[in-house]
Amino acid sequence: MCSRMECSNQLELYKEAADWLLAHTDKRPTVAVICGSGLGALADTLEDKIGFAYEDIPNFPRSTVTGHAGRLVFGALNGKSCVCMQGRFHLYEGHSILSVAFPIRVFSLLGVETLIVTNAAGGLNSEYSVGDIMFIKDHINMPGFAGQNPLRGPNEDRFGVRFPCMSDAYDRGLRSLAMDCAKELGFLDFTREGVYCMVGGPAYETIAECRMLQLLGADAVGMSTVPEVVTARHCGLRVFGISVITNMVVTSYESAAYAHHEEVLQTSQERAAALGALVTSFIGKMNENPKD
Ligand code: HPA
Repeated sequence: MCSRMECSNQLELYKEAADWLLAHTDKRPTVAVICGSGLGALADTLEDKIGFAYEDIPNFPRSTVTGHAGRLVFGALNGKSCVCMQGRFHLYEGHSILSVAFPIRVFSLLGVETLIVTNAAGGLNSEYSVGDIMFIKDHINMPGFAGQNPLRGPNEDRFGVRFPCMSDAYDRGLRSLAMDCAKELGFLDFTREGVYCMVGGPAYETIAECRMLQLLGADAVGMSTVPEVVTARHCGLRVFGISVITNMVVTSYESAAYAHHEEVLQTSQERAAALGALVTSFIGKMNENPKD
């Protein structure tokens, strides 16, 4: 048996939130952007914007982390109607996996077709540097291996199929478009493409864990994004993902370095302007040619 929020097949909960938003704004976004740690400023650059606190939206979870504002902001970015999540939900906050992914189904009901996810991540690939921007080409869903998948439970057929494909989760055309934008902006020196691994957090990884993740083929590690992407793919949204490498993980017992949240926030804030320029250019160019 599952409680009201724990049941994935309760279309009414999502509909209530979507209908409330549709009644409170005449904006009809086709693109949703999730702003990761320290990257919420992007939402402030929307034109003609209107924001709603999560706590005012029926059934919406609430954000509890420093650096995450907790607002849904609607407006235009480079001529496209967008909705930005200023602050996301994490498993480590105590949210259920369904709550973490809740906004995605609401976006789908609002008519959103493309999801852009951003996050802060630790660099595992030794060729990466702090401040790099990594386009996500694939993910490893560590919580998913342990049964923490947002699609667990009765399938909601009105959103998608029981067993959705994930081998094409990160849209190839969108990644190629983003690479064109990075080139145009002169960002190629710090732009990468790699595999994101989600862990549950909130503790950062041990040295042995980081070494294990490197062996598994992950290039970056973080505590978010994957539940939203799985849910988005289930309901047919196209996904583009970006990690800002905010710190390099510690993989040597000789190292005096250690991971801390202040460094994560500081680096992502330093890269916020570049990320904003990239996402703005990307959104402007989306759908300009069929391969996108
Ligand atoms: N590990 C996990 N999550 C993170 C990290 C990290 O090193 N940096 C930013 N988010």
